[in-house]
Amino acid sequence: MQILRQQFLRHIGQTSPSPMLVEIERAEGSCFYTPEGKKYYDTISGVSVSNVGHHNPAVTEAVCRQAQQYMHVMVYGELVERPQVRYAALIADYLPDPLESVYFVNSGAEAVEGALKLAKRFTGRRRMIACRNAYHGSTHGAMSVMNSYEFSDAYGPMLPGVDWITYNNLADLDKINEETACVLIEPVQGEAGVRLPEKGYLEALRKKCDSTGTLLIFDEIQTGFGRTGEMFAMTKYGVTPDIVCLAKALGGGMPLGAFVSSRHIMECLSHDPALGHITTFGGHPVCCAAGLAAMEYITEHRLLGDVERKGAMFETLLASHSAVKEIRRSGLLMAVELGSSERLYHIMELFKERGILSDWFLFCDTAFRISPPLTMTDDEIRDVCGIIHGCLDDL
Ligand SMILES: Cc1ncc(COP(=O)(O)O)c(C=O)c1O
Repeated sequence: MQILRQQFLRHIGQTSPSPMLVEIERAEGSCFYTPEGKKYYDTISGVSVSNVGHHNPAVTEAVCRQAQQYMHVMVYGELVERPQVRYAALIADYLPDPLESVYFVNSGAEAVEGALKLAKRFTGRRRMIACRNAYHGSTHGAMSVMNSYEFSDAYGPMLPGVDWITYNNLADLDKINEETACVLIEPVQGEAGVRLPEKGYLEALRKKCDSTGTLLIFDEIQTGFGRTGEMFAMTKYGVTPDIVCLAKALGGGMPLGAFVSSRHIMECLSHDPALGHITTFGGHPVCCAAGLAAMEYITEHRLLGDVERKGAMFETLLASHSAVKEIRRSGLLMAVELGSSERLYHIMELFKERGILSDWFLFCDTAFRISPPLTMTDDEIRDVCGIIHGCLDDL
């Protein structure tokens, strides 16, 4: 095991100076296991990916079946591939009109890239607006709509023409004008530490975009596929964007992204010039087969109906501890506020020791994340909360 860890550090490109270094042997349901047999509860679904649980038999079977039929055949957008078409049709069924044209890509960041390009191309405008404390991906374009001086200093120059608004600030909506191609926003802010839209905010934003001819883009990469209790958060909060970005749970555990809009808007990527966005592996048939199986699993097993109840159960069990200052939550996406980064750092160490995988938020270093598989059972929730209580006691 030691050798593998050494090779990991030597040969795998690193993202931070202190990786977890926990080795995975297998994963199933709400848990994964190390080669030594130590069990970890995955309380964050691999960061909002494994909504139908790890090693879900329906997904695994769809992956194997599709791999035996065909994998990559031709670059995206040329051949009619059944898993892609069927999955796009199912997604369109769940999205409000007129969101029916699905452009599959490889990741969340690429979905954001595609959406920004589409908005610029459709409106002919060049300015974009994004929210402070939002994360939309790590490519240059996606990073340009992240308001972080640390990153723009390190990797700039970023894309020009980006203005910033503060989430839930109505006065800031005045920054949207006839030059604005698009506003990119998460309906529930994830990396800001789970911030919910205040009543009327998303409606006011929609109205302002309508009055200026600006396209509204929702980033539902974290909130999609049941995380907030509806298949998509836009339905929960009652506002329909012009474009929505999807990824993470979209692929049922396989890498997949998409941006979705009306056919009228999407059409402009295909001409003047043609090939407005192209991607070799976007919508890979095996990834689409996996995502389709996962989405069908969510509906067939009526997972959505239980999300709010399970979220409330977590909230009640955790809020009873005096070390918890606040819980911010939409369905099964929640931030447990400890009020101090030292305490957060300490509890992460305890979690690792005692078999809980949680995470920080990029723009909130005082709360830990809980966003478990939607399939996590009541007994597992009680068990997880019991372990977390023990860690909180020892802070
Ligand atoms: C809200 C949001 N948008 C976009 C992304 C980027 O997705 P990806 O890592 O697939 O590029 C993330 C990833 O964490 C995210 O949380």
